[in-house]
Amino acid sequence: MPLLTNNDSPQQCRWHSYSTTAELEQAAAQTILHAAQHAISQRGAFHIVLAGGTTPRRVYELLREADTDWAAWHVYFGDERCLPPDHAERNSRMAALAWLDHVAIPANQIHPIPAEMGAQNAASAYARAVEGIELFDLVLLGLGEDGHTASLFPGHELGNTPDAPVAIAVFDAPKPPPQRVSLSAYRLGAAHQVMFLVTGAAKRQAITDWRNGAAIPAAAITPTSGVDVYLEAMLLP
Ligand code: 6PG
Repeated sequence: MPLLTNNDSPQQCRWHSYSTTAELEQAAAQTILHAAQHAISQRGAFHIVLAGGTTPRRVYELLREADTDWAAWHVYFGDERCLPPDHAERNSRMAALAWLDHVAIPANQIHPIPAEMGAQNAASAYARAVEGIELFDLVLLGLGEDGHTASLFPGHELGNTPDAPVAIAVFDAPKPPPQRVSLSAYRLGAAHQVMFLVTGAAKRQAITDWRNGAAIPAAAITPTSGVDVYLEAMLLP
C-alpha cells in the first residue's frame, strides 16, 4: 500500500550521486541558486525551507558568495529543536552562522521556528507563519540513519495526509533533543522542488532501505514533481 501522498501516488525519486562530498555540495549550491533564479524570475520571490543537522552546513557556507537578489529570498525551516535560540544545537543558529548572518536577506524574511516556546505552542505559531504559502519553491531535507527526515521519525506521526497538521510537536524524538517541531510530511511535500542531501557512510542502510521501497519517513515526502536525492556514490550498491 503506497504511502498517501500529496499526489496520491508512490514517491518518485531521482538519485544524483557524486564521487566526493565537495562535488555534491557544489552541485547542491548550484541547484539552490538555479531554483532561486527561476522562482524570482517567475514569481518575484523565492521561498526556501532549510534542512537542519550538519550535512547542509558547507552548502550554506557556499551560498554566502552567491550573486543573487537576496531581497527576494524568504527562508523557513523544516524542523527545529526545542532549545534556546542561541543554543549551538539549534538548526536556525547553524544556518545563521554558516550563511544567513553573512547575506542581505531582510531579517523579516527569515522565519525561524520559535521552538523555545515549547513544541506545541511553536507548532501552532509556525503553522500560522507558513499559512500564506501554498507551495514552497524549494525544500531541503536531510536523512537520518533510521530513515527520519526533518523531525519525522519512524513509528511517530508523519502527517502525510491532506488533513495532517501543518506543523507537528514532537516530544519523544529518538534523536536528541527529545522535544522538537517539524513541518509535517504533507506540508514539506507541498513544494515545487524537494531536495535531500545525504552524506556519510552511516546513512548507507537508510539509503538501501529507501531504494528497496521501505516506508521510511523520508519516503513520505511526495511532491507532485518527485524528489531529488543528492548522495555520495559510496552510498549506492
Ligand atoms: C535535525 C535535522 C535532521 C537531520 C538528520 C541528518 O534537526 O536533526 O533536521 O532531520 O537532517 O538527522 O542529520 P545530519 O545532517 O547531522 O547527519
